[in-house]
Amino acid sequence: MTHFHPTIKKLQTAAAASALLGAALTAHAGEVEVLHYWTSGGEAKAAASLKATLQAKGDTWKDFAVAGGGGDSAMTVLKSRVVSGNAPAAAQIKGPSIQEWGAEGVLANLDDVAKANNWDALLPKVVSDVMKYKGSYVAVPVNVHRVNWLWANPEALKKANAKMPTTWDEFFVTAEALKKAGIIPVAHGGQNWQDFTTFESVALGVGGADFYKKALVQLDPATLKSPTMLKALTTFKHVKDFTDKNAAGRDWNLATAMVIKGEAGMQFMGDWAKGEFVAAGKAPGKDFLCAAAPGSAGAFTFNIDSFAMFKLKNTANVQAQKNMAAAIMAPEFQETFSLNKGSIPVRLNVDMAKFDDCAKQSAKDFVATAKTGGLVPSIAHGMAVSSAAEGAIKDVVSQFWNTDTMTAEQAMDRLVAAAKTK
Ligand code: BGC
Repeated sequence: MTHFHPTIKKLQTAAAASALLGAALTAHAGEVEVLHYWTSGGEAKAAASLKATLQAKGDTWKDFAVAGGGGDSAMTVLKSRVVSGNAPAAAQIKGPSIQEWGAEGVLANLDDVAKANNWDALLPKVVSDVMKYKGSYVAVPVNVHRVNWLWANPEALKKANAKMPTTWDEFFVTAEALKKAGIIPVAHGGQNWQDFTTFESVALGVGGADFYKKALVQLDPATLKSPTMLKALTTFKHVKDFTDKNAAGRDWNLATAMVIKGEAGMQFMGDWAKGEFVAAGKAPGKDFLCAAAPGSAGAFTFNIDSFAMFKLKNTANVQAQKNMAAAIMAPEFQETFSLNKGSIPVRLNVDMAKFDDCAKQSAKDFVATAKTGGLVPSIAHGMAVSSAAEGAIKDVVSQFWNTDTMTAEQAMDRLVAAAKTK
């Protein structure tokens, strides 16, 4: 048995007390390492507002940005970090993937923050359900993006004597007119997530919300191989005829820049594209137009950005992580972030007075489509199916887009097979 000299004991107690005091003093000065893929103009502005919010609480933001629209590269990097036991505090993880990470046992429980801040009452249930793993909050939602948008340059339309299309027939008339006027009709970036983004808007517009749900959410084989899917695939492939030959590999924000400059007339993209227009000093209704993708005005493909929080050991960092979660849901942040990002607040009843008409339309349609059944999760943005099935279906869609020898019938057979990926 060890006997301590009383003085040593006293010294030890004093040291322990001062360590405790130190911990208390630094309790508000933790660090949050944040993995995200918000690197374009509008995205970076939005990310900066998150950083500023965190720093205002006295915490430090450690930036872990992995460029690449849609986040595929970020997710690959995240996996290797977590596998090596070095998870970031917060990562931009969305939809069913939150459940996949929850099942790995690596996510932190945010129930105390959620309870103290009344999240259950402030969030639509479709949203809060996704943020919970086995009934406990493990992620915090940031915003709501709408994916089924068509963006256009009004000057370009005017030059071509064409109008903003609302149906697919009108779309191809406008596309032909732009082509004749020497303007690239559709700005596209040939990356598989962008092909998929266009595809889901076409499928929604051609087949309607019920078809979309059966095919791309429930993955029903008979719907994936049906006359409506045939029409959707054929229409999708026809859109390619109106893209330029340099589309392959182009980043989405560079495609948006083509519309901003009037080199291209239109772009299919979620409303993070609006963040680019706004960051370039452009005003909706005047310098650019937004409309639901043809045929999809009564529907809304939602894409909710969220941060999942990973289990951490350092108590100051755990506190900083909780601070970040609470700050994200605060009304001021919800407003500032979405004004830059092009999205709408995820929190219910945030005042929309400062938002533009595209955002107001989005907020109105979000509520309306929730009642009519037109509110559907975006498959291209990780909201609808498992990440494995999504990846397999996305690959088929891009192969079809890029391979002229592949028929729509062959693509449907491959879609049915891909949908079985677990
Ligand atoms: C994300 C957006 C992001 C976009 C482009 C989407 O999947 O939800 O936040 O701006 O990809 O990177």
